[in-house]
Amino acid sequence: MEKSLADYYKEEEGYDLLSTDKGFFAYRYLEDSKSVYVGHFAVAKDERNNGGFSELFGLMVKMAKDIGAKCIIGDVFRNEFNKDQYTNKLLMHIKYGYKVVDVNKDCITMLKEV
Ligand SMILES: CC(C)(COP(=O)(O)OP(=O)(O)OC[C@H]1O[C@@H](n2cnc3c(N)ncnc32)[C@H](O)[C@@H]1OP(=O)(O)O)[C@@H](O)C(=O)NCCC(=O)NCCS
Repeated sequence: MEKSLADYYKEEEGYDLLSTDKGFFAYRYLEDSKSVYVGHFAVAKDERNNGGFSELFGLMVKMAKDIGAKCIIGDVFRNEFNKDQYTNKLLMHIKYGYKVVDVNKDCITMLKEV
């Protein structure tokens, strides 16, 4: 299934996948701006609150540095399904060193220098 997910993200959205047995990041490297854009990330439900995100995030930062990126960028979207977690997700990004760089209706863009 992991391969199917990876193929889907690559084919449909141009994302590469970085994954562990607990979760994944789907990202694109944008050469012009030397940035890694994170399109999706998740930790499996039964692995949450157990350090899985922290491990995954460490790998993501290392990967970004290794390929020469200067920052990681992500959009935090709010919709009907995830609205109860919107504030928590923003706070989590801030805890991990992201700054807010743009605010739109139902979408906040976050950037972390690496
Ligand atoms: C978002 C998600 C990846 C977080 O994974 P998780 O394992 O549940 O993460 P945790 O609850 O352990 O929190 C991760 C860190 O953020 C911190 N955090 C969580 N909520 C926080 C809050 N409200 N304020 C400050 N920090 C917060 C935790 O303290 C933890 O830090 P630590 O590892 O240093 O202890 C997971 O909930 C998920 O997969 N959700 C569905 C998909 C999703 O929302 N993707 C992100 C779209 S923006």
